[in-house]
Order: sequence, then C-alpha cells, then structure tokens
Amino acid sequence: MTRKEFFARAGFGAASVLVPACISGLALSCSTDGGNSSVAPTNVDFTLDTSTGSLSVDKGYLVSNQIIVARVDASTFIAVSAACTHEGTNVNYVGPSNSFHCPNHGANYSNTGIHLNGPGSANLKQYNVTLTGNSLRVYS
Ligand code: FES
Repeated sequence: MTRKEFFARAGFGAASVLVPACISGLALSCSTDGGNSSVAPTNVDFTLDTSTGSLSVDKGYLVSNQIIVARVDASTFIAVSAACTHEGTNVNYVGPSNSFHCPNHGANYSNTGIHLNGPGSANLKQYNVTLTGNSLRVYS
C-alpha cells in the first residue's frame, strides 16, 4: 500500500489537510498586541434621561451611539467610546474599580479611557458630559 492509498482509505483527503490550517488561522485571529480596529465616534452630541433605567442607579451603565456612559454616583457620569481598541468588542463598566473591561480578551481601561493592560495599546476616546436635572448631555 502506498502512502497515498493509506490516506485515501483512512479518509484523509484535501479537507483534512486544510482543517488544521483553518484552526491555526482562527487561533491567530486574536492578536496579543496591536489591533486598534475601532474608530471612536466623532461630532457627538446627544442627551440621555438619567431618571430611569441603567443611569438611574450608581454603577449603572449603557451604550448609546457607540459610546458607553456610566453613572459613578448621583452627580458623576463618565463617557468613553464603547469599542475596545483591540478588536472592537464593546467594553463593560466595572463599578467596583470604576474602570472599563473588555470581555473578549481582557483589555482594561481607566475611567477616562486610558489603556491599562491587556491586548491593544490605544486609549478609548473620552467624551464630555454635563448633567442638568435628569438630562445628561454627552458631547465631543
Ligand atoms: S477585543 Fe480583544 S481585548 Fe477587547
């Protein structure tokens, strides 16, 4: 039996040769550095109601217009671009540490969007916020 016949009888064809390459390609799709595939929104200017929903409670947050807005306490709100600078997954606000975390590969950012550690290296863009009554203006 030739080598070719052995592989043919064992069910190994061209696809079996390609599968490891595909798996390898998937594994490499998560780079450990660089990326920076996200683009922070520009010309931002919108308002949110803080009297109901996530922004009515301390440590609550939401994503609106590709920006993550978090309520630190009744008079302190923060807003940064939501897309992780590694591969664009939306970050979460972590109330206990007052910071942002990407659930995809673990990048961490300060409450002003500074990249602290994990994949990627760029910062999230920080936006201005002004609270008037229950109306929170988010703008660039
Ligand atoms: S997408 Fe990879 S760390 Fe955020």
